[in-house]
Amino acid sequence: MPTAPEFHDRMLSLGLARVSEAAAIACADFIGRGDEKAADQAAVDGMRRQLNLLDIAGVVVIGEGERDEAPMLFIGEEVGTGNGPAVDIALDPLEGTTLTAKDMPNALAVVAMAPRGTLLHAPDVYMDKLAIGPGYKRGVVTLAMSPAERVSALAAAKGVSTRDITVCILDRPRHAEMIAEVRSTGAKVRLITDGDVAGVMHCAEPEKTGIDMYMGAGGAPEGVLAAAALKCMGGQIYGRLLFRNDDERERARRAGITNLDRVYTLDDMVTGDVIFAATGVTDGSLLPGVRRTPHSITVETMLMRSKTGSVRRMIYTNPLR
Ligand code: FBP
Repeated sequence: MPTAPEFHDRMLSLGLARVSEAAAIACADFIGRGDEKAADQAAVDGMRRQLNLLDIAGVVVIGEGERDEAPMLFIGEEVGTGNGPAVDIALDPLEGTTLTAKDMPNALAVVAMAPRGTLLHAPDVYMDKLAIGPGYKRGVVTLAMSPAERVSALAAAKGVSTRDITVCILDRPRHAEMIAEVRSTGAKVRLITDGDVAGVMHCAEPEKTGIDMYMGAGGAPEGVLAAAALKCMGGQIYGRLLFRNDDERERARRAGITNLDRVYTLDDMVTGDVIFAATGVTDGSLLPGVRRTPHSITVETMLMRSKTGSVRRMIYTNPLR
């Protein structure tokens, strides 16, 4: 009997970089043009086309929405040629649709791939998130701590004053108290208007980004993508699903989640090896955005593998014909 093809992450990773590159390039013409939907659609089309060229038997577990809401890259859609390893795909062809439409920093095209059954099927609800970078003892900060306690614990672990800690938080009315509490410790708050996958990833490179910790409620699918990134870059992330109504609880049950109060660690969200690719759409602290000249288009991609912890930055230029 033929054996099932293995998850050769090393061989598959270059193909995955092409997938996020394709999404970023496809939506480049919509940067700054005020049309979020058109930008997103272009990125979805570009990503899907490239994903379907890969020799994988892929299933989208984090996608554009449930089947009845999203015509393409919906949760459960089979992608790839079908000739290859069985894999889970988590994607966000355009993470930061508003950032793109307004040409604001840190919009990314992101995609992660892992062996089938190893990525959390997070429903499209909010998730309470807490993340820090590498080099800290496990559990040095927890979701059970108050925002002020988290700042103090991290400052102590880092051996600095709370005034030297910077926390990244989505600028939303729901975070007003959290922001005030963090500031009351003396810590700084970097507010972002969107894009918490990048927000979490910033914690993994604090010397470069100036961010030590991410906290607050954002999309649960983005939480799994961020966990995939941190599994490669190092760091910790905790997430708990938040439900506003019964419909959202039902979404979770449909996704196979039985314990609605569970706190997920990084290894609960990504239980095995993963590969992750992010391509810059607009300029940001992690990646430059798409560059166009009259004759060419250039993008930069971070391509990472959890097995080795390798982070590769790839610049791709293609002539415009
Ligand atoms: P989109 O790219 O789908 O617009 O999502 C951007 C985003 O900021 C995510 O990064 C974040 O998790 C979520 O939206 C926050 O949701 P909300 O805007 O409802 O606070």
